Amino acid sequence: MSLRSKASESLKTEKGAAHEYVLVLGSNVGDRRAYLEKAIHGIQKLGEVLRSTEIIETWPILIRAQARFLNQGLLLKTKKAPGELLEALLDLEKNIGRVHRMKNGPREIDIDIVWSSTGSLIEPNLKIPHPFNRAREWVRRFIAELKGDAVDPEVGLQFSRIQGTSIMNIHDFKKKKEAKEKITVVTCYDHIFARLVQRTSIDAILVGDSLGNVIQGNPNTLSVTVDDMIYHARAVRRGAPQAFLVVDLPFMSYQASVEDALRNAGRILKETGADAVKLEGGAQVEAQVRALTESGVPVMGHLGLTPQSVLALGGYKVQGKDSAVQERMLNDAKLLQSAGAFALVLEMVPQSLAHEISQNLEIPTIGIGAGKDVDGQVLVLTDLLGLDPDFTPRFARHFAELSQSVLRALEGFAVETREASFPNEKETFH
Ligand code: KIV
Repeated sequence: MSLRSKASESLKTEKGAAHEYVLVLGSNVGDRRAYLEKAIHGIQKLGEVLRSTEIIETWPILIRAQARFLNQGLLLKTKKAPGELLEALLDLEKNIGRVHRMKNGPREIDIDIVWSSTGSLIEPNLKIPHPFNRAREWVRRFIAELKGDAVDPEVGLQFSRIQGTSIMNIHDFKKKKEAKEKITVVTCYDHIFARLVQRTSIDAILVGDSLGNVIQGNPNTLSVTVDDMIYHARAVRRGAPQAFLVVDLPFMSYQASVEDALRNAGRILKETGADAVKLEGGAQVEAQVRALTESGVPVMGHLGLTPQSVLALGGYKVQGKDSAVQERMLNDAKLLQSAGAFALVLEMVPQSLAHEISQNLEIPTIGIGAGKDVDGQVLVLTDLLGLDPDFTPRFARHFAELSQSVLRALEGFAVETREASFPNEKETFH
């Protein structure tokens, strides 16, 4: 069955009705503005262009070594069903002169259907809403501008709430702090979840050494090795090739010497494609942070409850309750900033201290159990998904209760197999 007939079939009942579509145009070859104008001219023949956004310049994402794009969003009203519209737009791209060189490579003109009033559609060549709408700063901005009250059916939130600039490099962390835009970071340890995180507006992924607890089932992070971090970070990078990726330097991979720090951070960047490393501690690792940043390795710091020191701290407890520790932590934060760290995680510290540190730094603070007066938040993926019914730290809000869904699915499989209702006819080859 052709794409056209399949898509039209699912919309039979709406035949003759007008639909609205948000289209995103892009061009990064030749006279980019002229290509956009030709596209708009052609699109006007397919229906009524109700509104358009301004033209903006964006960086290429998947293949970064190519020219910048000009992008523009349009709100189109047409009687065409999604499949028909797609075919018309592909014809238009061809007539305008699009050359298909390589996937995600340079293009004279690209016209994407990113949202439609017809609802969700999943076809081999057409997914509406486009799976990467939320991840692309300009696409989410265009949809919000053209159709802000519309709800993204995949996540059940209005597009106008899925906003904010994206983080492409370390400088964007500071820009977000200056713009008072909260930074969002989530930990991730494998490919499948990385693919899902990459379909959201989350700013950065941390391959945390918390994988020692979460994935390996150890009581703490001390046994995690550089090889473990590389193994998981590679899987995450394959799932999220365009995410800003930070990887933890594990226990004793940097504490003993500057040489260790350089060698192990170098391995991590070279072997995983990460954008930065994170390490724990203040004054005691200042030399390492300076040497790394001077050698071109971006470093995220980590103060407060530093899990690699859990034995010395005597457990997982809030840090910075007394004034001596508060003063030391503020001092450590300033040292890390002057040694070149581009951001700082603050874990399990009182809100007032986190606030004071954030106010005193130019680089952003990213809190976990540090209250709301920080420049961003990081959560452990399994905590925010509610995947572990036996671990419920007070600061980690469950944004879902996935453990329930998982248990239901597993028990369902067991029961239905025993009852012989799985597999059914449709699930069987003859
Ligand atoms: O390892 C980790 O997951 C972390 C976060 C808790 C910040 O360091």
